[in-house]
Amino acid sequence: EKGGFDSFMDKEIHDQPHAVADTLLGRTDAAGRLVLDDLRIDESVLRAVNKIIVVACGTAAYSGHVAKYAIEHWCRIPVEVELAHEFRYRDPIVDERTLVVAVTQSGETMDTLMAVRHAREQGAKVVSIVNTHGSTIPRESDAVLYTHAGPEIAVASTKAFLAQITAAYLLGLYLAQLRGNKFPDEIAALLDDLRDMPRKIQTVIERGEYVRATARSMSSSDKVLFLGRHVGFPVALEGALKLKELAYIHAEGFAAGELKHGPIALIDEGQPVFVVVPSPRGRDSLHSKVVSNIQEIRARGARTLVIAEDGDDEVRDYADEVFWIPKAPTLLQPLLAVVPLQIFAMALATAKGLDVDQPRNLAKSVTVE
Ligand code: F6R
Repeated sequence: EKGGFDSFMDKEIHDQPHAVADTLLGRTDAAGRLVLDDLRIDESVLRAVNKIIVVACGTAAYSGHVAKYAIEHWCRIPVEVELAHEFRYRDPIVDERTLVVAVTQSGETMDTLMAVRHAREQGAKVVSIVNTHGSTIPRESDAVLYTHAGPEIAVASTKAFLAQITAAYLLGLYLAQLRGNKFPDEIAALLDDLRDMPRKIQTVIERGEYVRATARSMSSSDKVLFLGRHVGFPVALEGALKLKELAYIHAEGFAAGELKHGPIALIDEGQPVFVVVPSPRGRDSLHSKVVSNIQEIRARGARTLVIAEDGDDEVRDYADEVFWIPKAPTLLQPLLAVVPLQIFAMALATAKGLDVDQPRNLAKSVTVE
């Protein structure tokens, strides 16, 4: 049932192009307009939404961070992302015009379920983004947007994460369409970009051997840092979580802009640091800022492991290793950039002789608070 792979995790990483493609399938009508069938909330209610709060835990919460950048940019609705267990107990400001988006692979995470219940008691509408049919959270939500990643067996989430991000993009584009924030042809172009992603994810997976070899050479690392900016920031957080979970290595993700506000003190000779580099074609000179971050840490001895877009010649000079990913629009880049980090964590854990499907102390679904 592992389909010839060494682990479920390896299989599920390879399933990712399908997970994304299947999540995108059947979402448009004959005229090319987005239709989200499972979204049974009155359109007038969705038009009136003035705040979105994403509630989730762990990896699912990082997909919410990616969603924030995309939905705010496309829809001009403020989006907060909150860990479900924090949301529930801080007396959050939620009312009839708040849309709460609960993201969960299992649909059974107790913290997320309690957040859903609390939000609905306050009058909010809840849309859940869920992978497991027949689970509790979609039953208790006003509407559900299913991810079609298929069953995820490995404890550490991979394909469900990519599918969650994809579903969040769909929700954002649907709201933009409904509320008139974007012209139909702009939405169609973004959907075309999205439909191109499975092929590009496949390319990243096919380049995985170089990542694996790098990971094998680093199996004695005891601390690894991850830097990213904009949508690369949640990717850095997810890369760090994967490494903690699977390889039991202390790993931490930072927003690259925070470096000089503290974390740069951690850099010493040989310290491995992953850096997710934004597209050089993106706006706001984010690319050059991250490239200077790479120079700064390298000058202090860091070993820089850089994830960069094909053709980004500028990073080459400052990177000890480069993991190349295909060109993609900035907001969609997380679907590609996270894949080398998943493969890295899996390969490093395997090199340490650990069971990547069943890490110690963890359960696939956390059904207690
Ligand atoms: C990380 C991981 C966990 C889950 C979290 C939420 O690899 O698997 O962080 O993402 O426990 O689980 P779900 O999505 O089932 O609510």
